[in-house]
Amino acid sequence: MNTKNAQSMLNSDLAHVWHPLAQHSTFQEKPPMLVVSAQGSRVTDSNGREYIDTMAGLWCVNAGYGQQSIVDAACEQMKKLVYYPHTAANEPASALSAEVSRVLGNGLDRIYFTNSGSESNEAAFKIARQYGRQAHPTENRFKIIARHRAYHGTTMGALSATGQSERRWKFEPLVPGFLHAAPAYCYRCVFGQKYPGCNLECVKQIEEMILYEGPETVAAVIVEPIVGGGGVLVPVDEYLPELRAITKRYGVLLISDEVICGFGRTGKMFGFQTFGIKPDIVSMAKGISSAYLPLGATATTGEIFSKFLGRVEDRVQLTQVNTYGGHPVSCAAALANIKIIEGLVDRAGSFGNALLEELKKLEKYPKVGEVRGKGMIYGIELVSDKKTKEPVSNAIMAQVAAKAMERGVMIGKTSMMTYHLNNVIWMSPPLVLTEEEAKKIVSVLHEVLKEL
Ligand SMILES: Cc1ncc(COP(=O)(O)O)c(C=O)c1O
Repeated sequence: MNTKNAQSMLNSDLAHVWHPLAQHSTFQEKPPMLVVSAQGSRVTDSNGREYIDTMAGLWCVNAGYGQQSIVDAACEQMKKLVYYPHTAANEPASALSAEVSRVLGNGLDRIYFTNSGSESNEAAFKIARQYGRQAHPTENRFKIIARHRAYHGTTMGALSATGQSERRWKFEPLVPGFLHAAPAYCYRCVFGQKYPGCNLECVKQIEEMILYEGPETVAAVIVEPIVGGGGVLVPVDEYLPELRAITKRYGVLLISDEVICGFGRTGKMFGFQTFGIKPDIVSMAKGISSAYLPLGATATTGEIFSKFLGRVEDRVQLTQVNTYGGHPVSCAAALANIKIIEGLVDRAGSFGNALLEELKKLEKYPKVGEVRGKGMIYGIELVSDKKTKEPVSNAIMAQVAAKAMERGVMIGKTSMMTYHLNNVIWMSPPLVLTEEEAKKIVSVLHEVLKEL
């Protein structure tokens, strides 16, 4: 793009666009990057500079940029049937529901389509609450237990589940009935315990909450198998199986928010598969279409779905609609995307975990408190003092990201989570990341973190 065009685009942007999360006053000094193209794991800006995108956009371009088969599938579908509401059936959505059921397995074979992760979680909460009323008519199961640091979305229900105070407080009061437990976060265990001698207090706390609230008032527990935007918090292997057992014991549904963990990110198709559990409801978005087009989905089991069956006059059907749910073009793109992801998922495990071992070597630097991850999702927690674990300032985080960017590597950093803990670098690169690109990421991080 020539300089004049780029400047004119930026002028329009600065005059009219309201960017997410950004403080616009900073754009006078440093305007937003104008991204013009992307291929594989690399994006190019309007100055022709290329960067390795370790964020896969926003944890979403799992198949990598520029996959022709996805583009072709979407184009062909656009010519044939661009849209029809999902009150009727359409070919791509029908085929995709079968594909998503197949890759989910575990009897999760009923799929409701949405357009985003937030909407998938909203649908999950509605399914859980309505199921609670219809499966247990003498009870009042409406509460949803989530965890601090988790991110579940931006709409009012999904934000109510989100456990990140800075994202919430300007909009409070939020939706009643959402409660928060401690995250599975050994590095900063709120119980002051050390694994494995901790008796999994973090998961026991959820059982205590269910008992204190009264199980007959609790509809569901929602978890990201690995908390993503909240700092890449990887639970110990026993955590999710134990949580599954507890929720089962009290008739509480378990919702797995796979918006980040789904579609290959953790080295299996879904995060719940990586940890060997079977949830009752799964919410998805991002990697389902690798962001080629907006799409989300909420899956559940036949057993749960059966509680929504009856005569029309019983009014037990799910009272939920999304104009663009089951959009034929998005679904066609997702079908082509899943084919690609299936070919990448094993590599995401082996190559991804090998990259994690390399990244772990960064722990030798004084400001690197912990490096963690699984498959192709990574968090690097920065502290000013390894003993006290005092988090580094937002200014240092900005400096680290800027220095990596100068060297051609874009990294993510946690932001607006809580006032005191925005100190984790995160990466979730496209699953097509090459060995050479991985080496460059590692060497740039060594250079930048050594200097701190
Ligand atoms: C785990 C998780 N759930 C839900 C969402 C919300 O997705 P969306 O931004 O598509 O609404 C996100 C977004 O980052 C997420 O990371």
